[in-house]
Amino acid sequence: MPQPSFDAPTLQPTAIETPETFAKRRAELLGRLGSDSIAIFRSAPETIRNSDVHHAYRQCSDVYYLAGFEEPESTLILAPGRDKPFILLVRARDRQQEIWTGRRAGPEGVVRDYGADEAFDSAELTEHLGPILDEADLVYFARGRDRDFDRQLLELLDQSSRRRYRNGRPPTTLAHPAEHLDEMRLVKTGADLEALRRATEITVAGHREAMRFARPGRNELEVQAVLEYTFRRLGSPRNGYPSIVASGDNATILHYIENRARLAEGELLLIDAGAEWGYFTGDVTRTFPPGGRFQGAGADLYDAVLSAEQAAIDCVRPGMTVESVHLAALHSLADSLLELGLLEGTRDEVIESKSYRRFYMHRTSHWLGMDVHDVGRYKEKSEWRPLVAGMVLTVEPGLYIAADDESVAPAFRGLGIRIEDDVLVTADGVEVLTAGAPRERAEVEALTAG
Ligand code: GLY
Ligand code: MN
Ligand code: MN
Repeated sequence: MPQPSFDAPTLQPTAIETPETFAKRRAELLGRLGSDSIAIFRSAPETIRNSDVHHAYRQCSDVYYLAGFEEPESTLILAPGRDKPFILLVRARDRQQEIWTGRRAGPEGVVRDYGADEAFDSAELTEHLGPILDEADLVYFARGRDRDFDRQLLELLDQSSRRRYRNGRPPTTLAHPAEHLDEMRLVKTGADLEALRRATEITVAGHREAMRFARPGRNELEVQAVLEYTFRRLGSPRNGYPSIVASGDNATILHYIENRARLAEGELLLIDAGAEWGYFTGDVTRTFPPGGRFQGAGADLYDAVLSAEQAAIDCVRPGMTVESVHLAALHSLADSLLELGLLEGTRDEVIESKSYRRFYMHRTSHWLGMDVHDVGRYKEKSEWRPLVAGMVLTVEPGLYIAADDESVAPAFRGLGIRIEDDVLVTADGVEVLTAGAPRERAEVEALTAG
């Protein structure tokens, strides 16, 4: 493999997160919960890939956010009404198991290293959780992520409710923790923002390296390898989502992840990929002519998407909404589609009839954070919520012309273009976290031809 020439120095992992990072987040959540309530968070389940092979394990974002603990089969409990409010149930130490599958902290280790006030063997969940449930009028728990654990917890809740009933207390109410935790995760400050900055910095470096490496004749899979090698080299342990490396009309498939076609002369390449760092992820898309120049219809469509992206970014600031950002992109795209003769009518007619949806079928923004489509409400009741400083969102307009769309001029068919950046809402405007990946045609060409 040719040696990639890194344009960013190798980033030494630094300790952005300290035990205080997690303690601070727990304290904030504890402060939001009423003293008669508890919150339960379960680790991500392990999933079988095939035979006795598991999919690579990644901790549930909520559990990591609150404790930095990465082992499966663990349960995190926050009980604000107790003297010892932070309880962890984790796998017990087991010499044989640890030889085969890796180190375990064990209950003692999580008290020592993860700040747990109390810790128990997760095999003793019933014994320890039962009494805690008996004391709680309200239990926050996110159902639907691990059916086996859901069933186990619901059974414990039923048992507890029967005991409470006999003692003259109402059954426990179950609620989703989103209203508290997701709102905390939505606004990025301190360590969140530092981790996210690092994730976007690594993401940009990977894109730049892939842009340099891609050439006609090379395979999408090779380009993916260079991109992800760069991510790993710079300290990212995994991607935030499967990389999309889509050449030619593969780029019209929004979630194309086969990544095994050969790059052909004259075709564009769309790459949508993001590196994780500290459990936060970047989410960047660039579309470029491998080794060459934008030409003809491809150049026209690229300019249309770039103008729409800039119009949308220009409208990101406190007080605006993701809907206003989307509309800015949409108006710009509609104007371009009319100018290019791809649609007919007026801008208002195009928006009203949604005729643009043939070519632009997704929205412009989503929250970005620990999850690529991050948590947090978009609306308050039915109103789009105003952006506030610390929110991070993507801006990602695109145009996709089906290869078999005979209603458009042949030169446009099979083109798929998206440009995606990650932007931070600041006190008075916007900061593009991913500005290091070139977008202007001349800058893109300078990098890809270099
Ligand atoms: N890569 C997923 C997205 O852009 O939303
Ligand atoms: Mn995105
Ligand atoms: Mn993306």
